[in-house]
Amino acid sequence: MAPFAHVTGWGMAVPETVMTNDDLAKIVDTNDEWIVSRTGIRSRHIASEDESTATLATRAGARALAMTALEPGDLDLIIVSTSSPEHLFPATACLVQDALGATRAGAFDLSAACTGFIFAVNMAAQAIRTGSIRNALVIGAETLSRLVNWEDRTTCVLFGDGAGAFVLEASDRPGGVLSCVMRSDGSGGSLLAVPAGGSRMPTTAETVQRKLHTIQMNGREVFRFATRVMASATKEAAAKAGLRLEDVELIVPHQANLRIIETAARGLKLPMDRFFVNIANYGNTSTASIPIAICEAAADNRIRPGDHIIMVGFGAGLTWGALALQWVAPERRPTPARKRRRTIVTFLARLRSWFRRFWRHIEGLLWGAQPRGKT
Ligand code: ACO
Repeated sequence: MAPFAHVTGWGMAVPETVMTNDDLAKIVDTNDEWIVSRTGIRSRHIASEDESTATLATRAGARALAMTALEPGDLDLIIVSTSSPEHLFPATACLVQDALGATRAGAFDLSAACTGFIFAVNMAAQAIRTGSIRNALVIGAETLSRLVNWEDRTTCVLFGDGAGAFVLEASDRPGGVLSCVMRSDGSGGSLLAVPAGGSRMPTTAETVQRKLHTIQMNGREVFRFATRVMASATKEAAAKAGLRLEDVELIVPHQANLRIIETAARGLKLPMDRFFVNIANYGNTSTASIPIAICEAAADNRIRPGDHIIMVGFGAGLTWGALALQWVAPERRPTPARKRRRTIVTFLARLRSWFRRFWRHIEGLLWGAQPRGKT
């Protein structure tokens, strides 16, 4: 029988710096009352200069891994879902692989905006279900503060930075990822985009001056689209998993706007207490919002072993999707000894990375010293 794909570890990381609505009101023409009443957001975390998508992803990934019996070297696959990657290439996932010392893992990024974490978990789960891998680290990570136009009050109040991660492992025990709905509609791509910096519009002085490297959004259209798809995707994922909505203990929606979540709840005829909401403290962290919410829900005992959960999200692309899963108990809780061991493993990973770079340099010098034509 095909193995099941269970979530066995989870972790999150957010920058220390918190920006409140009042802080924002000092930068753009806005106020706390408008932001809270229209979005539900009260504050967000903003990356400092030395933080980036890869550093947040690595921290979240290391925490998720520390909950499991796996060592970094046991990982088969790392997927980082992000719309604010460290670079166009190399993939942020490769930087995470190097930082963790996951020497056997294939690593790649997945770009599906705020729906990305759902798509990435499904990809990893399906690879586990087919038997092609035994485990995977899936991370949703963003530093959208780097892509925001801080002069545009219609977007800069919405977004925040952070990362959340799952470890998925193969198991004979039924449960884990039960179903997934993945949808896209590229005809709505221009509703939410960073237009410049890719092959269509390479970077020029003009693109920079026109701020085309920042998030451009038609908020009302995205709002309308989101309220349409959240309820339908949730219902579809539940039906595919053979669940009635009454059987689902918690719905963890993408945290983009409290009003969107409330509309979805009305559409599903479910009370708001069946939804986990933490948008007030983080804003919209895009693909990181669902795993961050899951980490907080688990810490608050809103998710218990055996519970059925549906994660549902939407985002740029346009993309949307929902994933049903049955939660399991973590195999191992982080102990002080295990945390110390993690520190050593991380140090060794850095040393290994440094040594490989150094050796590549030496090899380059040696090859450079070869006479032309000789190999
Ligand atoms: N502070 C004060 N006033 C503001 C602000 C602000 N930050 N932003 C806009 N306003 C003003 C507008 O200028 C407008 O004024 P006007 O009536 O004089 O023209 C008024 O407030 C109302 O503007 P609307 O755009 O109609 O406000 P709305 O209620 O639609 O809320 C919002 C805007 C919050 C952006 C909403 O449309 C929304 O949440 N949309 C979905 C966005 C979203 O979820 N995006 C992320 C998708 S996920 C991803 O892939 C990253």
